[in-house]
Amino acid sequence: MNLPPQPKGHPIIGHLMGFKNDPINFMLNSAAEHGDILLFKLLNKKIYFLNNPEYIRHVLQNNHKNYHKSPGYRPLRLLGGMGIFTSDGEQWLKQRKLYQPAFSHKSIETYSHSVIQNTNELLDDWALQLEKGETINASREMMKVTMAIISETLFSSKIDYESNLWDAVSYALGWINDRALKNPFVLPANWPTPKNKKFHAAVAELNALVYKVIAEKKNNNDNPNDLLSRFMNPGGDLEGLNAEELRDEVMTIFIAGHETSANVLMWTYYELCRHSEVEAKIFEEVTKLGDRELNYADLHELEYTAQVLNEVMRLYPPVWHMGRQNLAPDEIGGYEIPTGSHVRISPLVLHRHPAYWENPNSFDPERFSKENTAKQTPFSFIPFGAGPRLCAGRNFAMMEMVLILAKTVKRFKIETNENYFVEMGPLMTLRPKDDIQLKLVLR
Ligand code: HEM
Repeated sequence: MNLPPQPKGHPIIGHLMGFKNDPINFMLNSAAEHGDILLFKLLNKKIYFLNNPEYIRHVLQNNHKNYHKSPGYRPLRLLGGMGIFTSDGEQWLKQRKLYQPAFSHKSIETYSHSVIQNTNELLDDWALQLEKGETINASREMMKVTMAIISETLFSSKIDYESNLWDAVSYALGWINDRALKNPFVLPANWPTPKNKKFHAAVAELNALVYKVIAEKKNNNDNPNDLLSRFMNPGGDLEGLNAEELRDEVMTIFIAGHETSANVLMWTYYELCRHSEVEAKIFEEVTKLGDRELNYADLHELEYTAQVLNEVMRLYPPVWHMGRQNLAPDEIGGYEIPTGSHVRISPLVLHRHPAYWENPNSFDPERFSKENTAKQTPFSFIPFGAGPRLCAGRNFAMMEMVLILAKTVKRFKIETNENYFVEMGPLMTLRPKDDIQLKLVLR
């Protein structure tokens, strides 16, 4: 069989060490050296790696019926069960229908009030921290605020985000990524190794939160139109979810709906520390709107702010790799893809492809001006995925991130540090390896 080019690897374990030691640079370098389709091997497992917008369009959109979520997502099921992120086929379709109304423009407009209120509370608290001479840990603060927003808007629940939740989410996502991407030698998840025990303890902590939110809803349903109510009682000819499905879906949304947006915002503050001219342009844009409170309609005016977020998602896409498996044989780029192959796509590697992005590693929000966006190659920018499995929460996420960023920059000036450098931390999502620490001055 005609196989795609392969980076040099170990005769037995293949490319395992590359994935284990430094998966991001390993994938970036392999793609730079071997082209748009290549083959990785992890022991006897073959992975077809695609880094060409047309191949990606083929898998995620044109021939999507032939591609299910890959076994790489199975470890995620130990956290999110059979929630929408990892399911396929009929079950996925049923779930997607349940979600749809929660993400209409009307709903998102309603959620914007909660974003504004939670951001005001956050920024008031930052002002108090500054009075005490403290720096702001943007990483933790972003997780806290996005978690509060997701639970308030979709589940009508107020939660306390203590640091143990941060630790639980971080540990669980790191553990899952190790199993999904790096290590086929891992012992079964139910073996009582120290790492497995720590993972199960983290899941128990998150489960406790999920069950509390569900119990609160059952006791007191003040808002019968939110997503959680819809999961329980969708109306029409759709069936409500049973207890297990409900847990899976609530957990999925908690994780998918806060960690991703929080990561983008962390990276954004990081880049603003390094690029004061970008911060100044956001400030100019938001101050043009006057002294009044921002609102949903202002999103149309905050175009540059959105450009900055897109550029951050180009360089640091939170979902930095995705996997699929084909149900029937296929052909991509002139190579045969046998049934059951593992196909991997990395938005991060694609977004730094020099054929589609000039100076791919430099941070430049002008790439996303209206004029430049019109020139982009279709499917060369896919932070929210593509095709039918496109992120259900993308409009929610953009609304939330634009409002939080614009309001922050309007109220505080970030102290510049052009030499600030933080490495990428590839968990299941892409976080800065170290917490982002901000020095702020009240405007
Ligand atoms: C910047 C923020 C976000 C990014 C970059 C992001 C990215 C993604 C990507 C790439 C996928 C597709 C994965 C695949 O095809 O394998 C996805 C799916 C999904 N996302 Fe997001 N997401 C973000 C925020 C959110 C938010 C805020 C929510 C919910 C409120 C959300 C809910 C979902 C759901 C439910 C799916 C599964 C969709 C399906 O399979 O039908 N996401 N997201």
